[in-house]
Amino acid sequence: MITELLDATDNFSSAVRKAANLLRAGRLVAFPTETVYGLGADACNAEAIGEVFRAKERPADNPLIVHVRDMEGIRRCAATDPRVEKLAVAFMPGPLTLVLPARDVVPSIARAGLPTVAVRIPDNPVALSLLAEAGPLVAPSANLSGRPSPTTARHVLDDLSGRIAAVLDGGPCRVGIESTVLDLSGDRPRILRPGVIGRQEIEAVIGEIGVEVSTVEHRIGEPDVEAPRAPGMKYRHYAPAVPVQLVISDERPALLLSGALLLTTERHVDDFPGTRTELLSEATLYDQFRRAEEEGMEEIVIYAQPGELPEGLLNRVMKAAGRM
Ligand code: TXA
Ligand code: MG
Repeated sequence: MITELLDATDNFSSAVRKAANLLRAGRLVAFPTETVYGLGADACNAEAIGEVFRAKERPADNPLIVHVRDMEGIRRCAATDPRVEKLAVAFMPGPLTLVLPARDVVPSIARAGLPTVAVRIPDNPVALSLLAEAGPLVAPSANLSGRPSPTTARHVLDDLSGRIAAVLDGGPCRVGIESTVLDLSGDRPRILRPGVIGRQEIEAVIGEIGVEVSTVEHRIGEPDVEAPRAPGMKYRHYAPAVPVQLVISDERPALLLSGALLLTTERHVDDFPGTRTELLSEATLYDQFRRAEEEGMEEIVIYAQPGELPEGLLNRVMKAAGRM
């Protein structure tokens, strides 16, 4: 199969129309969201959803997020309550996924057999037009299982070229890390995966919540205390082929290899003359990882002072460094 590149930056309507036609025919099309590129399939077509697991080499017990274009779409897939309505007003469309009791219309394969479903409304014009024409769509991140999530159409092609019908190119993703996953199906709300919408912002809307995976710095390396977690969290997370050293300290990292790539915050980016230094941010993290691998860098050093990194970014760099 030859994977078609559909350029939505140049020919928005015709690219989206072609992508929608492919999806309605049961084919797989990767598309941009504000977070990362998703690998889309018709959420009502169990066979197409099966192809998503195959194309990504994703374990069948890891459920998918159903992408919809509005609150009405959420109500059709899941049982909602007043908390959902409040969160929608505050954050949707946006990088927040809710785990809710599923309705029967959501094929069991999309939910990996669970009684719950994850839903979100992406904040990206290409994604929203595509959903208007061919939604709802299941969409895991459009990478091969075990690779970093893709934030450009090129990243998608590097992993999935020849395995999917098309990639809809909408340019680089604005956010760059995956959505916050909030589970509202249990006794009390819990964050299963941190993202750029933080715990405090959510608590300001619905009151106190729990966190599944602690991103508190002093607990680095300690086992998680609460179970169960998002099924996806039990799989070994992506770590770059290049070793990652994470330095969260008031002291600067001392010795840097000549083949090291240093990723650090705006405050420190000019402090290391002679070392290749790039800005550490959600928007560019996964691209930096893929580049460091391609360029055969010897080491990636990530440096920030305690308290400097927001929780979603801290979670991803800890995972890359094998610290959780
Ligand atoms: O930003 C994002 O969320 C991106 C874009 C494409 O929307 N999607 C994404 O999907 O990151 P994926 O499949 O790579 O990650 C979905 C996460 C997994 O950790 C999965 O286990 C969890 O959400 N999840 C999905 N359905 C769930 C459910 N019913 N209960 C608990 N966790 C669930
Ligand atoms: Mg993923």
